[in-house]
Amino acid sequence: MSDRTGIFAGDDPFAIARNWLAEAEKTEINDPNAIALATVDADGLPNVRMVLLKEIEPDAFVFYTNYESAKGQELSASGKAGFVMHWKSLRRQIRVRGTVTREDGPQADAYYASRSLKSRLGAWASRQSQPLSSRAALMADVAKVTATHGPSPKRPPFWGGVRIAPLEIEFWADGAFRLHDRFTWRRRSIADPWRIERLNP
Ligand SMILES: Cc1cc2nc3c(=O)[nH]c(=O)nc-3n(C[C@H](O)[C@H](O)[C@H](O)COP(=O)(O)O)c2cc1C
Repeated sequence: MSDRTGIFAGDDPFAIARNWLAEAEKTEINDPNAIALATVDADGLPNVRMVLLKEIEPDAFVFYTNYESAKGQELSASGKAGFVMHWKSLRRQIRVRGTVTREDGPQADAYYASRSLKSRLGAWASRQSQPLSSRAALMADVAKVTATHGPSPKRPPFWGGVRIAPLEIEFWADGAFRLHDRFTWRRRSIADPWRIERLNP
């Protein structure tokens, strides 16, 4: 008999993640959807940075970035990613590990179109992760793309979504005396059913 109740109730980990994020939206001062995204470089050296989680789909998580950035190249090379989201206000975290694919179709176009014009032009101007001589050089590039792409720029081909299909999702909530609650959903492949287990804290 499972003792998985309250905030851990239900068998769908995406529904639990959606519920926790909805709670965090009420309690976090900034960016409740921020995730620390981990990749590895060609030497296996880990690399972590924050990005914003934009969708929790029925079976995947989606964020947006520049495909030619350091993370973009590392994601293409390995096909894998991990992330953690942590809410200090709730004292909870969610950890995810899985395989990645690009979302560079109509869904990415729609998300790009929903952004402010300055952000859309910024995506064109920034050669993300490349050296930049000065802020003035970046602003000159913004002026250039503003002139060439006009008031309704198309989504750049090098910018779009990344969809993470999880093989592992872990939910953690703070407990008294460091006796935290941890539950993990694991599957060998995306086609396999989830195995749910409580873990020692
Ligand atoms: C709160 C926060 C949210 C961010 N969101 C994004 C994002 O959604 N996409 C993105 O490409 N970079 C985002 N960034 C910038 C990244 O952390 C990072 O600096 C940039 O993507 C370059 O990373 P890379 O060189 O490892 O590719 C965000 C940074 C912070 C602090």
